Amino acid sequence: DTGAFTFDPGFTSTASCESQITYIDGEKGVLLHRGYPIEQLAEEGHYLETCYLLLYGELPTAREMEDFEYRVTHHTMIHEQMSRFYSGFRRDAHPMAVMVGSVGALSAFYHDSIDISDPHQRMVASLRMIAKMPTLAAMAYKYHIGQPFVYPRNELSYAENFLHMCFSVPCEPYKVNPVLARAMDRIFILHADHEQNASTSTVRLAGSSGANPFACIAAGIACLWGPAHGGANEAALNMLMEIGTKDRIPEYIARAKDKNDPFRLMGFGHRVYKNYDPRAKIMQQTCHEVLDELGIKDDPLLEVAMELEHIALHDEYFVEKKLYPNVDFYSGITLKALGFPTNMFTVLFALARTVGWIAQWKEMIEDPHQRIGRPRQLYTGAPQRDYVAVEKR
Ligand code: SDX
Repeated sequence: DTGAFTFDPGFTSTASCESQITYIDGEKGVLLHRGYPIEQLAEEGHYLETCYLLLYGELPTAREMEDFEYRVTHHTMIHEQMSRFYSGFRRDAHPMAVMVGSVGALSAFYHDSIDISDPHQRMVASLRMIAKMPTLAAMAYKYHIGQPFVYPRNELSYAENFLHMCFSVPCEPYKVNPVLARAMDRIFILHADHEQNASTSTVRLAGSSGANPFACIAAGIACLWGPAHGGANEAALNMLMEIGTKDRIPEYIARAKDKNDPFRLMGFGHRVYKNYDPRAKIMQQTCHEVLDELGIKDDPLLEVAMELEHIALHDEYFVEKKLYPNVDFYSGITLKALGFPTNMFTVLFALARTVGWIAQWKEMIEDPHQRIGRPRQLYTGAPQRDYVAVEKR
């Protein structure tokens, strides 16, 4: 037992740790944050309220929420000198590459001022991360499309501010559509935390050495980028665009079932959920709301996605292996309709997941038994042997 993780000696060792933040029942398709079902949080609440819940463990009173929202809102600007980092990136750099770099660079601006042994400073660092991620994400997008950075505005809500920083331009007024802002906020809630997924485990392992939280979050962003994890939303939309029409679905279903073909249905399957990912249902509803609000009727991508889901859910291969749509299956269509390019999808996932990463980091640091994570291995290499001089090899 290394404190942060408990490994079984088995060949497929599964890392595990104790946490009070998120509970998943993969067989029943249940997701709870501090005991509250994701369906209720997404329907009744808003993202900053979920942030408060994940960090403090309880839903806030109106006064507590007002204070939390004020503190987050008034830390959304970043050090002006950080803007210069962006000009060092190639314009065509993937926005996730920019995010790994810019979030890691936050360490250079806040590292010395954070004493992680001090509970107050841990909370300050947590709020700074939550506050600044939308600004950094919007800057990554603006830099990528060659438009000027847009500063946050304190009178806007968290999701409104993000859409404003992404889509407004200095040349004309921009009014955030409240229906789209609500959809964006709900998408943030759906991605906020998800127990010990690969990127959260990365943040915990990095944090277990005492590294500063900004660098740990940058490590989490790097892990999330992979197409098997957070990169699946971008890969899922690219897959739907490649399929293009319903008549080509059987070809891709066959490829997904072919063990000799590395192709997998992106947005399908999950290490834990062996039932429908509850987030996918809410995401599908949100997708319909966004398309309706934008007057997009019969979106061909949505038609392909729904037909693909229908065929897969009745195909014995997917049924037998309990493969269902996950949170990434419908998110791409929704984000594309909101105006984002596919290479920004995982950036949005990282933005939303920051609260989960930082809440789990804080929980680990505050565990009195916490020690550095030190995974062990099953050695299958050469037995001990003596060195052989080069002339005798
Ligand atoms: C996220 O961990 C989290 O909580 C992650 C996440 C979060 O919020 O943090 O939920 C976010 O990462 C969601 C997953 C996004 N990834 C994708 O959609 C990529 C496509 N999915 C697969 O790559 C896969 O399903 C994984 C990576 C998600 C899970 O990989 P596993 O654990 O290896 O898959 P499995 O054990 O469930 O697979 C069982 C079988 C395997 O076949 P056999 O070896 O038993 O013959 O099902 C097959 C797999 O080959 N399989 C698929 C498949 N997913 C699994 N076959 C075709 N298409 C797929 N999508």
